[in-house]
Amino acid sequence: MKPTIAPYPHGRFRRARQSEAIRGLVRENTLTVDDLIWPVFVRDGEGIEEPVPSMPGVVRRSVDLIAKAAAEAQAMGIPAICLFPYTDPSLKTQDCAEAWNPDNLSNRAIRAIKQAAPEIAVMTDVALDPYNINGHDGYVVDGKIVNDETVEALVKMTLAQAEAGADIIGPSDMMDGRIGAMRQALEAAGHHDVMILSYAAKYASAFYGPFRDAVGASGALTGDKKTYQMDPANSNEALRLIQRDLTEGADMVMIKPGMPYLDICRRVKDTFGAPTYAYQVSGEYAMIQAAAQNGWIDGEKVMLESLLAFKRAGCDGILTYFAPQVARLLQS
Ligand code: PBG
Repeated sequence: MKPTIAPYPHGRFRRARQSEAIRGLVRENTLTVDDLIWPVFVRDGEGIEEPVPSMPGVVRRSVDLIAKAAAEAQAMGIPAICLFPYTDPSLKTQDCAEAWNPDNLSNRAIRAIKQAAPEIAVMTDVALDPYNINGHDGYVVDGKIVNDETVEALVKMTLAQAEAGADIIGPSDMMDGRIGAMRQALEAAGHHDVMILSYAAKYASAFYGPFRDAVGASGALTGDKKTYQMDPANSNEALRLIQRDLTEGADMVMIKPGMPYLDICRRVKDTFGAPTYAYQVSGEYAMIQAAAQNGWIDGEKVMLESLLAFKRAGCDGILTYFAPQVARLLQS
């Protein structure tokens, strides 16, 4: 065969892919354990580990077992764990007072983790949905989600979490002005080191379905969250929200869901350069697990590829239910 000249002599890109060694040398992005935040579900009781049917491989744990899991995560080098409470329906009310009960499930779990695993960062969720009789993230008055009254409640919730020892507060409610209000209240209470990771660009997504089962909010929720969570059609709006939240005192920002919104991750990182995280949400997790269980995809490979994609898109880290599996794999 006659050797071809142009354009190959200079354009032989395959040289850079010839072996694992060379591929390693030219690799632009890597996934490490440092990139992982592990979301976990906590429930009442003792010694309980209960599977979440719509999220194969994920369990709800009682406080004692959450503490144990956190210690294991710490030992594997996972930098942060994020708590979501499965609240007993009997504790859901109109005024959501359980949200700022210093001894609620989430706050008890924070203290237990701090004892068992003092080095792992504890992140919390701030929104009223686990405690709200109608499953919404904010108060509902005459069929509308009211903003400012909700923010007052969220501030109380934030302070209770900070008091219990939370390192990173994660407001996922999408009300306006909550970051500024929380930052002010934290400062006033002397919690100068408590960080805020704002769910700044959170979309009204159908990918949250399995999560709502996991925290027991599916049954309670009436209607949808479209008057506060973002329209999946929008991208410029995400930048404006991120800018606002950073200005109000957020230390880090999040885009949620993850994989369908990688374009937003990239724009946010390029525009602000702030610590940027994506949440690989329950629906994304469930899709990968379901296909893997059916033998339709290689679950492990898809898991790693999906997480590496977030790094390539500019994210500094990922909230993922796969965190322990990834940590185990990267260790071995
Ligand atoms: C609640 C909250 C949700 C998630 C995190 N915090 C659900 C929602 O907004 O309805 C979703 C996480 C996931 O799907 O994994 N404010």
